[in-house]
Amino acid sequence: MLVFKLIWAICFLLEETHEWGYKDGILHNSIWLEQAAGVYHRESRKGKYQLNYKEAKAVCKYEGGQLATYNQLEAARKIGFHVCAAGWFDKGRVGYPIVKAGSNCGFGRVGIIDYGYRLNKSEKWDVYCYNPTAKECGGILTEQKRVIQSPGYPDEYEDKQICYWHIRVRYGQKIMLKFLDFDLEDDTSCLADYLEIYDSYDDVSGLTGRFCGDELPEDFISTGNVMTLKFLTDSSVTAGGFKIEYNAIDPPFSNSSYSETTGLLTNDK
Ligand SMILES: *[C@@H]1O[C@H](CO)[C@@H](O)[C@H](O)[C@H]1NC(C)=O
Repeated sequence: MLVFKLIWAICFLLEETHEWGYKDGILHNSIWLEQAAGVYHRESRKGKYQLNYKEAKAVCKYEGGQLATYNQLEAARKIGFHVCAAGWFDKGRVGYPIVKAGSNCGFGRVGIIDYGYRLNKSEKWDVYCYNPTAKECGGILTEQKRVIQSPGYPDEYEDKQICYWHIRVRYGQKIMLKFLDFDLEDDTSCLADYLEIYDSYDDVSGLTGRFCGDELPEDFISTGNVMTLKFLTDSSVTAGGFKIEYNAIDPPFSNSSYSETTGLLTNDK
């Protein structure tokens, strides 16, 4: 019976996480994940494919990071970093990480889809940065529980900010977001200042909501073990900002057999 439950739990995990972290029959443990997880994707505020090489470098630098190397991008890909958008990375190379083969992205291949070293540095792409250290404005969060607040909270936030929080908890867990306080500049379609929630480890897919104004959004539970929060402010009015708490939760099937398996699948931080 226990064996059956174990198999069932593992199948569930694989399905839920899209085999993230699963390579060569081994689920990689969290120490390596921590090092790889500092990679993230950015696009220009003007939209997709608007950054030349110089601008791409500036985007990473602005957030205290640098261009990701090929190896960092590949390490992130191996733990499930999948983005369907080509970006600059170290030494003027362009490509994107594909985990799951699909007809509309990556030519049906998996791996780093590599466009090579670009001779023309004026070409416009997105960018892949590397920055493993968390800052007040965004960061990579792996704790089981944490409070996230807008920079300067509860005082007014600054204008012209972009912050990304990438949350990742253990395999098989989900993330529950609870809004404790929320006050952003209000406009009808949230074009000025907004907070976006992505049910994904990047801001390319999985958009589940864009919020502004002072109405407290509803609690949200992720589909998998990752989530991204993107906070963008324009250059005029500011407001008090937000305070959000997240908690890692075990799936509904959680019982003693599940907690027995988690010890095998991931390391506690
Ligand atoms: C380099 O790329 C830019 C932007 O795509 C383009 O306008 C320009 O013509 C290219 N230069 C060369 C020499 O191909």
